[in-house]
Amino acid sequence: MAVGVFDSGLGGLTVHQAIAARMPGLPLVYLGDNANAPYGTRTPDDIFRLTCAATERLWEEGCDLVILACNTASAAALRRMQESWLPEGKRVLGVFVPLIEALTERQWGDNSPPREVAVKHVALFATPATVASRAFQRELAFRAIGVDVEAQPCGGLVDAIEDGDEILAEALVRSHVEALKRRMPHPQAAVLGCTHYPLMARVFQDALGKDVKVFSQADLVAASLQDYLARRPAFRGPGEQSLFLTSGDPVRVGSKATQFLRAPITFEAA
Ligand code: DGL
Repeated sequence: MAVGVFDSGLGGLTVHQAIAARMPGLPLVYLGDNANAPYGTRTPDDIFRLTCAATERLWEEGCDLVILACNTASAAALRRMQESWLPEGKRVLGVFVPLIEALTERQWGDNSPPREVAVKHVALFATPATVASRAFQRELAFRAIGVDVEAQPCGGLVDAIEDGDEILAEALVRSHVEALKRRMPHPQAAVLGCTHYPLMARVFQDALGKDVKVFSQADLVAASLQDYLARRPAFRGPGEQSLFLTSGDPVRVGSKATQFLRAPITFEAA
């Protein structure tokens, strides 16, 4: 009954952690494609190919349902996977929709027409590929009207986090927030639209100021997964073991994961 959790690297661990806290009995297989991270500067075709390969690897571990705990893959590959690639009996879910439903005060799966919502000025921080896809704005437009979104592509930030360079990561967060504020001086809400960024959530909140509500995905995705599995229990796959897999060097990846999550995590080669 395992569920797969995929990211290009360490970021999806923020989602993994929230799912494990909410559903402690559910076996989870994590796969970080650290050897190919970052995805955020790759082409959509490349992201699609890598994401499909990782998803197939998680099927081998008995995960019929795979969470793309990666905004870049969710933005650039998910729709194409669902429309033209996914076989019967398998599911792949992304991380955008639960976040946008929370931002627009909707219940999960509420597909009623778009309406006015309280928040009018939203800052989006994401990878260059996610920003270029405009997937966030597209999903938002299905649910809300009159929301002004200013997107900041946070070049370099995923690399700094993957390298474990917290000083560089903090400097990059501050300069990206500053760049965004030059275009939107008073955002009401900020979306951390990359699962790596919650690892720097404290710095984002500090740079944005305490009046800005910062949305990150981990808990929202975990809550919507719990709801999904309650409605579709058949998608708990046959796998029984919890594992952390990486396409990179398991020792190095394990040590960076332990550094960021402040909990010991042991990886195996994918
Ligand atoms: N965690 C991925 C995301 O949510 C990072 C993408 C990357 O590797 O650049 O977008």
